[in-house]
Amino acid sequence: MKILVTSALPYANGHIHLGHIAGAYLPADIYVRYQRLRGRKVLYIGGSDEYGVPITLTALKEGRTPKEVIDFYHNANAKAFERLGISYDIYGRTSWDLHIDTTQSFFRKLYDGGYIFAREMELWYSIKSNRFLPDRYVKGQCPRCGYEDANGDECERCGAQYSAKDLINPKANIPGDNSAPILKTSLHWFLDLPKFKDRLFEWINSHTEWRSNVRGMALSWVSDLRPRCITRDTEWGVPIPLDHPEAKNKRIYVWFDAPIGYVTNTRQWGIDRYNDSHAWEDWWKNKDTKLVHFIGKDNIPFHAVIFPAMLMGQDDYILADNVVGNEYLNIFNRRTGKSEKGSKSKGNMIRVAWALDKLGTIPIRYYLCAIMPESKDSDFDWDEFRNHYNGELCDVVGNFIHRTLTMTVKNFDGKVPTPGELDNADIEMLNAVKEAEESVAESIENFRFRQAQERWVDLGRKANGYFDSKQPWATRKTDVLRTGTTLYVCMQVVKALAILMEPFIPEGSLALAKLINIEIRRQGPEGGNDIWGSISSPLSPGSPLSTPQVLFPKLEQEYIDKLAEEHEQGLAS
Ligand code: 2FM
Ligand code: ZN
Repeated sequence: MKILVTSALPYANGHIHLGHIAGAYLPADIYVRYQRLRGRKVLYIGGSDEYGVPITLTALKEGRTPKEVIDFYHNANAKAFERLGISYDIYGRTSWDLHIDTTQSFFRKLYDGGYIFAREMELWYSIKSNRFLPDRYVKGQCPRCGYEDANGDECERCGAQYSAKDLINPKANIPGDNSAPILKTSLHWFLDLPKFKDRLFEWINSHTEWRSNVRGMALSWVSDLRPRCITRDTEWGVPIPLDHPEAKNKRIYVWFDAPIGYVTNTRQWGIDRYNDSHAWEDWWKNKDTKLVHFIGKDNIPFHAVIFPAMLMGQDDYILADNVVGNEYLNIFNRRTGKSEKGSKSKGNMIRVAWALDKLGTIPIRYYLCAIMPESKDSDFDWDEFRNHYNGELCDVVGNFIHRTLTMTVKNFDGKVPTPGELDNADIEMLNAVKEAEESVAESIENFRFRQAQERWVDLGRKANGYFDSKQPWATRKTDVLRTGTTLYVCMQVVKALAILMEPFIPEGSLALAKLINIEIRRQGPEGGNDIWGSISSPLSPGSPLSTPQVLFPKLEQEYIDKLAEEHEQGLAS
């Protein structure tokens, strides 16, 4: 079996924020790192989404070319992901030439299969700019909810989709042009989604194990399927592969090509790694591959309905085994005491690079996993940040590791001691290690990452209780053998924690592995050994230990207050 994992391709039109990370990236990375530790064949695909109207608008506003915009944000985001330890096998780009080939081949196959048709539409056109106004190039009032800033064919606030002519009071939204547009006809191409209705229903219904938010939204979309326009009046996008005069000045719509980016990036990965232009097929066309998409909830219809339909129309592609959609991470505003949506205009989102500069990877990954919005929205809250990180990772896990290592190194010559006879408490503690190995795995395999993290922290909690009850600091004066047995057992927990925490806080795992002189190798997409399965195999007596260091230094209240203040002033976005 192979596992192909994707995280939504963020637009190369802005910096990635912590809300994105909690939604589509951290859970995927935990999942992938865990599968690698199991020695399974897992491939993790990511990249930038580089077409679409928001990018050309940014370019116009900033007086740059779209290419300059995407180069800047692609590089910035790739770097931020890398620093955070998001372990993609490739971080590709939809502006690659290879992507034109993949996208056009998808389009042609659907066209030849009779799943794409052309139709005239009435669209807004600016006489002043002498151009059509796709998507956000026109703004007006939503015919359903009255929102003043609605786009040409869809309202971002209430989700309504409508014909352009229904937009109330339209105005061009281009720098230097806010004229009132006229309606003009233009030929466009549509994906005939209703033709996939039965197959989509059958497929979604066969996946009763999916999260209810994803299944619910997918089913409601399928029950109301309409043909979807997949071309736009723009020059920024993949050219339409049809020999038609009306196709020349138009491009394929970004939401058609974006998920195909997963395929393109897999193709490029195969070429880079094996110099094999067919290697990707074994991941996308092999029934033995499990495809898992990680996304935020706004992306559910595209990954659970539209892209699957596009794949069905190709005949020989696999469909997703799971679509793991998270809810939103909101921001808790200390001043108002209220939770608010992250928004660009409010400037309340927290840029990954800013957070990394201030906090480093471990606290960020730990906290975001602790509050991951798996079944409902959750709040980013600075006080909770400190409580979770200090109270759990530092006080429970870090403290246990540190006292075990300090006492062992000091009293047993820097080596894992030789145990005497094990009593019931010892055996129970060692059994808990085995249980954690299984229960953390079970949570991850079922996409419950918060619970998975709580479970290994619980092992640390239990180990602290064991340590306290055995009082090695007291027994060392009277019973060295007993002390050695206690610390031997504790060392087994420490070793287990080093592996258990790897998917969540890889930097912490690496530092701990160094202290206890074990190597936790990163295994490639070809698979390898079941390192996870060795969590409960013992670290041998006599194994050398290094001088202990504090792995998780605490965050001071004043420092957190300072960060919260900077955040409030908009300096984090
Ligand atoms: O919502 C977004 O940020 C999109 N750029 C996600 C695309 S996901 C995939 F289809 F590429
Ligand atoms: Zn609306």
